[in-house]
Amino acid sequence: RMYKRQMMCRRDIDVHNVPFLAIYEFLIPPEEEKLKQKQLVALLEKLVSKEWPTAKLFLYGSCANSFGVSKSDIDVCLAIEEADVDKSKVIMKLADILQSDNLQNVQALTRARVPIVKLMDPVTGISCDICINNLLAVVNTKLLRDYAHIDPRLRQLAFIIKHWAKSRGVNETYHGTLSSYAYVLMCIHYLQMRRPAILPCLQEMETTYSVTVDDVNCAYFDQVETLGDFGHHNRETIAQLVWGFFYYWAYGHDYANAVISVRTGSIISKREKDWTRRIGNDRHLICIEDPFETSHDLGRVVDKHSIKVLREEFERAAEIMQFDPNPCIKLFEPY
Ligand code: GTP
Ligand code: MG
Repeated sequence: RMYKRQMMCRRDIDVHNVPFLAIYEFLIPPEEEKLKQKQLVALLEKLVSKEWPTAKLFLYGSCANSFGVSKSDIDVCLAIEEADVDKSKVIMKLADILQSDNLQNVQALTRARVPIVKLMDPVTGISCDICINNLLAVVNTKLLRDYAHIDPRLRQLAFIIKHWAKSRGVNETYHGTLSSYAYVLMCIHYLQMRRPAILPCLQEMETTYSVTVDDVNCAYFDQVETLGDFGHHNRETIAQLVWGFFYYWAYGHDYANAVISVRTGSIISKREKDWTRRIGNDRHLICIEDPFETSHDLGRVVDKHSIKVLREEFERAAEIMQFDPNPCIKLFEPY
């Protein structure tokens, strides 16, 4: 009887696959937007190479990790090889160069945790943040992109979760909620933990890609095209996964003891990471281990107020998925 009941639930929730996939399709950036991004990067490369002939520009973040929705800003990293570059000076110089070439709203933010230059290109209408030598972000961007190529359900789930988080106001690190990067890691981890698994753990497999940046060794299996249809033993649909994701974060996750870890494809304990108490501003109220900078908890921005907000939002979403006949409306309702 139990079995039969569960089957009923599953079939019920599958009626929502069509609207969820429609939302996903709607959020995918059109080809012309990608072309405009390339155009802007080419312009930036030209300007940068005059001042720093050996420097390289890398795209990172959502414009390069395949989790970017339409009309996103682009994130660019300027890599300069000199050993000890003074980032603030480079930022000021870069702002000068860009300013004198018709780019708009050029701002040098030298005091930010990650110093950046912000700008807007009037030709393409694209806004862009440029940081200096943030190569770990370039490498974790590649990891996310490689995961996205294994099973299409990751990109679908992550688009829907990011869209939900933006609509509900819980994608704002300066208000104590989580970054897009953190949400994508939560999605990857969720799919690694399904049985049968929908995603493998690339960092536990044979190393085919290895770089050391800022003293961190980043190694994993990146030949993802050879994995074939890895997740095909698991037939869960997007509606089931969205429901399961929210259910996990509402009722399944052990907030007191657990750390989610994409690096190991498992749950590890706060105790083993020494994340059991507040140190400085890191409270570890929701723990998401960075896959490469393993001492780094992406939940560190969450405080005792925002953890409540987040958990209430997860519960709200789980309830809507469970009981609302039309969840796609309520789920994304502006807060
Ligand atoms: P949207 O702009 O919201 O679409 O998403 P995004 O993927 O660009 O995410 P976000 O702005 O959160 O971060 C941009 C990139 O910076 C991420 O893809 C990561 O590569 C990197 N990043 C962001 N936060 C962290 C962090 O706390 N640690 C590390 N190592 N990298 C981070
Ligand atoms: Mg971004």
